Amino acid sequence: MRTEILSLLRERGDYVSGQELCERFGVSRTAVWKAVEQLKKDGYEIEAVRNRGYLLREEGKPSVFGRTELESRLRETALWAGKPLYYYESLDSTNLQAKRLAEEGTPHGALVVADRQTAGRGRRGRSWSSPAGSNLYFTILLRPKISPDKASMLTLVMALAIAEGISQVCAGSGGDQAESARATAEGGIFQVCAGSQVVQKPGIKWPNDIVLDGRKVCGILTEMSLSVEQDSIQYVVIGAGINVAKQDFPEEMRNRAVSLEEIYGPVGRSRLLVAVMRAFEKNYEEFIGAESLAPLKDRYEALLLNRGRKVQVLDPKGEFEGTALGIRDTGELLVELPEGEVREIYAGEVSVRGIYGYV
Ligand code: BTN
Repeated sequence: MRTEILSLLRERGDYVSGQELCERFGVSRTAVWKAVEQLKKDGYEIEAVRNRGYLLREEGKPSVFGRTELESRLRETALWAGKPLYYYESLDSTNLQAKRLAEEGTPHGALVVADRQTAGRGRRGRSWSSPAGSNLYFTILLRPKISPDKASMLTLVMALAIAEGISQVCAGSGGDQAESARATAEGGIFQVCAGSQVVQKPGIKWPNDIVLDGRKVCGILTEMSLSVEQDSIQYVVIGAGINVAKQDFPEEMRNRAVSLEEIYGPVGRSRLLVAVMRAFEKNYEEFIGAESLAPLKDRYEALLLNRGRKVQVLDPKGEFEGTALGIRDTGELLVELPEGEVREIYAGEVSVRGIYGYV
């Protein structure tokens, strides 16, 4: 009931009488009072005034993060992405938990979120630093009815959703305005907004790192399980870690990692996660409808920092350099070699580095 009361108070933005809450949820006044007390303990400021009722005060307050807050915000927006929600104060890894839940039959759209991970996992067997109270660590469980060779595109679908979610919450614009954004040599995108204000927007380093100010702000790890016959997808989990609050990054990452707070000031984790889920849900539907990235390609390429830049392709069969042109509808990066040959680079097989820096 806490979630429902929180949603109603937020939606109303005004006093809601105890009587109305009792009637709406079919509970006693004491039960309402207890739920409100619990919300206060969770960190919400709720004013109780005799003869008027309860008022949620949120403006200028540090944002609350946790199960009730996320559930209440997800109720207001998402259709399926983020439902059901599994929230944990501490977990080994949200990807590992999502896979365990998937094996138990948990449905498409379920979202696993943790405030802290004790065994956060990155790509290529690396670990992902996951301290409490600072960042977003989440994994969505999907059961797409597409052939397994198309699943790697889902990582790009999520990368786009995260970049768009960050733009919306932090830089005050949606992905649709990305066309007017300009990629800079420093590895960022600047958007000129109303009033000539210049706001930095996140870009994407192919296939799925989100970059701000030439440094990584988010990483994505996608894992898939196939049916016994290996010809269809049992489930896919897409996990993402977004650096939100200012923090001391581990030594080896210090020059290559950045947090949203460093660029934009304090950012509410719950609001951001819900914006990402909303963007993901929309992008996913478009992707599934076309079974390709074609409907998302222009928006993805507008944010693609590698585009037009010199890249080094670390192919186990032999490294080479070229200029990144963009992506194919199926997600491969197109790289033009000095002699004019254009090669398709498959994510997962090779890694791509900027010649003059991280991007
Ligand atoms: C990368 O190496 O860039 C990918 C990092 C992915 C980290 C996220 S945090 C949430 C989810 N759970 C994990 O254990 N890893 C992913």
